[in-house]
Amino acid sequence: MKSQDRRGFLKLGALAGSSLFASSAFSISSRNQIIKSEAFDKNTKTRFLGSGKDRIEVSALGLGCMGMSFNRSFIPDKKPMIALIRKAYEMGVTLFDTAEAYGPFTNEELVGEAIAPFRKKITLCSKFGFDIQNNKMTGGLNSHPAHIREVIEQSLKRLKTDTIDLVYQHRVDPKIPIEDVAGTVKDLIKEGKVKHFGLSEAGPQNIRKAHSIQTVTALQSEFSLMTREPLEDVIPVCEELGISFVPYSPLSRAYLTGYINERTKYIASNDNRATLPRYKSENIIANWSIIDILTEFGNQRGLTAAQISLAWLMAQKPWIIPIPGTTKLAHLQENLGSANIEFTADELTKLTRDIANIKIVGDRYPTPQTK
Ligand SMILES: NC(=O)c1ccc[n+]([C@@H]2O[C@H](COP(=O)([O-])OP(=O)(O)OC[C@H]3O[C@@H](n4cnc5c(N)ncnc54)[C@H](OP(=O)(O)O)[C@@H]3O)[C@@H](O)[C@H]2O)c1
Repeated sequence: MKSQDRRGFLKLGALAGSSLFASSAFSISSRNQIIKSEAFDKNTKTRFLGSGKDRIEVSALGLGCMGMSFNRSFIPDKKPMIALIRKAYEMGVTLFDTAEAYGPFTNEELVGEAIAPFRKKITLCSKFGFDIQNNKMTGGLNSHPAHIREVIEQSLKRLKTDTIDLVYQHRVDPKIPIEDVAGTVKDLIKEGKVKHFGLSEAGPQNIRKAHSIQTVTALQSEFSLMTREPLEDVIPVCEELGISFVPYSPLSRAYLTGYINERTKYIASNDNRATLPRYKSENIIANWSIIDILTEFGNQRGLTAAQISLAWLMAQKPWIIPIPGTTKLAHLQENLGSANIEFTADELTKLTRDIANIKIVGDRYPTPQTK
């Protein structure tokens, strides 16, 4: 990154950081109506994806749309989901996340239809990189340059748009050098089909290699109070290179809301939690002290476990932009309220320490997927 760009990134961080710790007590700004009955207050807090002249201003939280079609058990009717996405925009959300793989395909179709009335006013993100045959995920990866090009053409049609603002490689494909992937996206950017490049679940080396070919605007990886490893490995690299970080599953797939428990049943044909070690009944119980801490912290302050979980993520760096998913307007409203939460330095330190003292039981993915 050019040094000037880098400075802009750091200055922004310093400004956001100082406002974060400015208040002397944990507070909700007066604009935030979550405690009042006025449900649909517009949320105007913003953050930046990327740095320098190409950075993109987006809402402080985005909306992850995956669960409206994929991997979260039930699939709601399309009409209320379109209404929810449009309501999110009215409430100030300008960052929407989907992928070819969600469905597959149906989530991009849903999002494309929902955002059509305000397409130019938002940042639309999608992803390529999984192998899909006969409308089914094969479990493999495919980032062959020719395939990336085909996927982007099809995604553009489903999303009803002529350009995708941010396209992520969904998973690093060990068969294809990351430089070739970055080079392909670079060409797509030159052609105007894509505006920015992102990676998902890439490690430090791949981030650096990709960034040397085409600026990486954002890294989207799992990060939550249950999955804190990014703070040690990839977040320092993002900081150095001026790459924003977009935590996916920021509520640990609902666990951190306290809304699911050891009796929750998943529809295995459409819910990856059925296969993830962390969601086994015994592990849900073993990790429950994290919910106790969040509940107690929230009870003193009129906040929910979900709100504290999201605010904690945003308090780590001013360029972290979580994308919680929901199918419920009430949850959307609750989640967006977290953008206005400010921790004092002492509160943040204590909360972080209390949670770090809990040993999380159960891996986030089964071993082959983790690899
Ligand atoms: N890059 C990747 O590989 C990758 C992987 C996974 C996900 N993602 C992206 O990240 C987004 C979010 O991830 P995610 O859906 O896995 O996990 P998440 O956002 O951590 O959790 C979503 C789950 O939490 C529930 N929920 C949300 N807010 C709630 C609240 N306030 N109270 C109670 N329950 C609440 C939702 O159920 P309700 O619908 O009932 O609210 C849903 O089941 C996805 O939509 C997708 O865009 C990316």
